[in-house]
Amino acid sequence: MKQGQRNFGGDWTTEKLERVRKYLAAYTTIMNKYPFHFAYIDAFAGTGYRKLKQDENPNELMFPEIAEQEVQDFLEGSASTALQVQPRFQKYIFIEKDENRSSELQNLKTEFPSLQNDIELVQSDANAYLKDLCLNRNWKKHRAVLFLDPYGMEVEWNTITAIAKTQAIDLWLLFPLGVAVNRLLKRDGNIDTTVRHKLDRFFGTTDWYDAFYETIPTQTLFGKEMVTQKTGDFKSIEQYFVKRLQTVFTKVANNPLPLYNSRNNPLYLLCFAAGNPKGASTAVKIAQDILRK
Ligand SMILES: C[S@@+](CC[C@H](N)C(=O)[O-])C[C@H]1O[C@@H](n2cnc3c(N)ncnc32)[C@H](O)[C@@H]1O
Repeated sequence: MKQGQRNFGGDWTTEKLERVRKYLAAYTTIMNKYPFHFAYIDAFAGTGYRKLKQDENPNELMFPEIAEQEVQDFLEGSASTALQVQPRFQKYIFIEKDENRSSELQNLKTEFPSLQNDIELVQSDANAYLKDLCLNRNWKKHRAVLFLDPYGMEVEWNTITAIAKTQAIDLWLLFPLGVAVNRLLKRDGNIDTTVRHKLDRFFGTTDWYDAFYETIPTQTLFGKEMVTQKTGDFKSIEQYFVKRLQTVFTKVANNPLPLYNSRNNPLYLLCFAAGNPKGASTAVKIAQDILRK
C-alpha cells in the first residue's frame, strides 16, 4: 500500500499487525512439514489487545446508528493476533516489562483455553530476557518468529546480534524512524553525549555519524569555516539500518515498510530479517512479498 492510500479504518497499527499476521500463517504452514519445535515470541507484547480511541472507531464513523449498540472497543493486539493464527504455533512466549500490562496478558489463557498450556508469560525487560534465551539455549531443534514492537529505541544492538546468532529466528522489527532516530539526528550535528551514546548503543557502532553528517568548508560571515550539516534523510536512514541488519543476519528484506501517521509522517519502518542459512531465502521472499502488497 502506498503513502496516502490506507484502507478506511486501517491505521498504521492495523497495517503493521496484518503484515506480521500474514507471515505467521505462512510460517506455521511451512514449519508443520519440518521436525522443529517452533514458537512465536512477542517481546513487547503489551496487553494482548489495543484500546480503540472513540474518535478512531471505524464502526461509529461508518454506521453511526450502531454507536449506541455494542461497539467494539478493543482491537486485536499482536499477542491475540498470533494466538489466532492457523495452523497454530507449538509455543507462545509473551514478554512484557510493565506489571499491569503483563498481568492483563493472563486473560489470554482464559480466552484461548486450548492454547493455555503452551502460553508462557514473562514479566521482564525484553533485552535481558532475549539475550539469555538466544545465547544460553540450544537452538538446534528450535525455530521461532520473534516480533519486536517497541515504542522507541528500546531494542539494543547486542540483543539484535544475539537473535541473529541463533540462526534459528525470523525477526520482525519496528524501527523507530520518525518517532525517534530522525528526531535525534539534529540538523547541525551538535548532538549531546548522552544522545550520542544512546544512538551508539542502538546502532551498535559509532559510524552512523559519518553516514548522516558531512563537514564541509563553507563561507560564513566570519570567513571560511568548517560547517557540519545533516545529510541523512528518511531514505538514507532506512538504507543504513538495512545494511546494519545485513551485517549480522543471513538475509534481510530490502523493502521495509514505512508506517505513516494520519499526517503522512513516517513513524516507523517494519523490517524483516532471517537468521537460518537454509530457510532465509524463502523467508525473505515471503516477507518481501508481504511488505510489497
Ligand atoms: C507498542 S507497545 C506493544 C504493542 C503490542 N505489540 C500490540 O500489538 O498490542 C510496546 C510495549 O512494550 C512494553 N515495553 C517497553 N519497554 C520494554 C522492555 N524493555 N521490555 C519489555 N517490554 C517493554 C511497553 O510496556 C508496551 O506495552
